[in-house]
Amino acid sequence: MYKHLQERYAPRPPVNIGTLLRMKAEGEKIACITAYDASFATLVDDAGADLVLVGDSLGMVIQGHDTTVPVTLADIIYHCRAVAKGLYRPFLMADMPFMTYASREQALENAVRLMQDGGARMVKLESGAEQLNIVEFLAGHDIAVCAHLGLKPQSVHKTGGFRVQGRQQEAAGRLLQEAKDLEAAAQMLKDARALEAAGADIVLLECIPAQLGSEITKALHVPVIGIGAGPDTDGQILVLYDVLDVTAGRKPKFSKNFMEGAGNALDAVKAYVQAVKSKTYPAPEHCF
Ligand code: KIV
Repeated sequence: MYKHLQERYAPRPPVNIGTLLRMKAEGEKIACITAYDASFATLVDDAGADLVLVGDSLGMVIQGHDTTVPVTLADIIYHCRAVAKGLYRPFLMADMPFMTYASREQALENAVRLMQDGGARMVKLESGAEQLNIVEFLAGHDIAVCAHLGLKPQSVHKTGGFRVQGRQQEAAGRLLQEAKDLEAAAQMLKDARALEAAGADIVLLECIPAQLGSEITKALHVPVIGIGAGPDTDGQILVLYDVLDVTAGRKPKFSKNFMEGAGNALDAVKAYVQAVKSKTYPAPEHCF
């Protein structure tokens, strides 16, 4: 009973939204990573991760799909429940899969399932200006929300591939290209501000130029977590299987194999957490 009161004074009190806000204010980097089962959840907890995501990346790294689109709510709930069993200190966030938040009512119903059936403490949705009313609705029901901006893998069939966002690819001529890049960057900054105002508790930026990652981080009061968004975001997130170098084939530019020089998986995740905290990851070669 009143477990949170006993835990507050524990040597490693569980992370909550307040902890993450304090870390941003104090300039302590937030180390985030994905996990999909109880054993790895315990391992990433022992390694010192602050935030753990049950990502729909599980569609690719566990189920073997080409994209995250086939992942269902039941898939995320199944893995989230397992992860929740293995975690003690990190804050647990779960992805809302493709088309599970197409309306406000559907988003609320599914977010509640992720929390009640899966044990998630926060939900993440891929969001731009179009999802503002959904973020606002969830936040209005006291659900902690992470808004995922930049490269949105659930939109890959519409956008045409996994590409850097916040800049335009196709303008002819350098000056026109620069103008369009500025416009795309300004739009993303505007979207990030609007999502924060709508009640997002975290903004996650995927695959955007480092300079833009830095500007958005400075502009927001809530923590900004990056993946391929440069070194200046408040925290970093990577897919566990990339950290452990078990993902087959070509790796994204921002990923790093932390098994190099590590004796085992725990040491590799510790090295990742340490590299985020000491700001040695991401290095320039991991940035756009
Ligand atoms: O699904 C996932 O793992 C993610 C991260 C890549 C941020 O969304």
